[in-house]
Amino acid sequence: MIKSLEEIELLKIAGKIVGDTHKFLKPFIKPGITTQELDKVAKDFIISQGATPSFLNYNGYPAAICTSINEEVVHGIPGNRVLQEGDIISIDIGACYHGYHGDSAWSYPVGSISEDKKYLLEHTEQALYEGLSVIKPGNTIGDIGYTIEQYALKHKLGVVKELVGHGVGKHLHEQPDVPNYGKKNTGMTLRKGMVIAVEPMLNLGKPSIYVLDDDWTIVTSDNMPSAHFEHTVLVTKDGYEILTKR
Ligand code: MF3
Ligand code: CO
Repeated sequence: MIKSLEEIELLKIAGKIVGDTHKFLKPFIKPGITTQELDKVAKDFIISQGATPSFLNYNGYPAAICTSINEEVVHGIPGNRVLQEGDIISIDIGACYHGYHGDSAWSYPVGSISEDKKYLLEHTEQALYEGLSVIKPGNTIGDIGYTIEQYALKHKLGVVKELVGHGVGKHLHEQPDVPNYGKKNTGMTLRKGMVIAVEPMLNLGKPSIYVLDDDWTIVTSDNMPSAHFEHTVLVTKDGYEILTKR
């Protein structure tokens, strides 16, 4: 799980392409656009950077990005759905550069949104940064999950537990699993040169989720909105570096 310097160079480039794709896509996220139009913009951009979309054909996934609206938690498939004022949309992007992946999800408002949805976005983003803040050699995977879970509980948000963050490298999903819950001082110890994706998925309502009949889209059981913020990060000698900055 420890990456070499050569691998880290490629992971940095892959991460930057993912961050740049988010930046490029953001102005398109407006009422009236369809999710498949967003998918095409992102896919063309990733390819223009000399990379390939990591998700396309991953376990048969049929698109370049995931677009999950409102009560959809993750893995929403782009299609002819039109974004409406007041929606929130979680966009998950992966890119593969010379065999190495970057992975980052971000939730965006569509036009102006309710105070509840603003609260959800603000605190899910903060939960990600709280989780990242404890990353350094000697701390554990459990410390990350504990920190995210405590922050979410304090803000009365539901923590999705069935899906977890992960190592990133030659494969999009590698060991270790990085849950958004846990106990301090448990799980694998973080070491310099590890690359992991931390990705809290928090719900305005209860934590419970299920999978739609398309076998991909995950939604909240109570139909309440959900948000997802994810960065791929490198563990450094005294902390971490975000590879998917935008
Ligand atoms: N970023 C997503 C994750 O880490 C990956 C989605 S890939 C898909 O779970 F192909 F399954 F959509
Ligand atoms: Co991920």
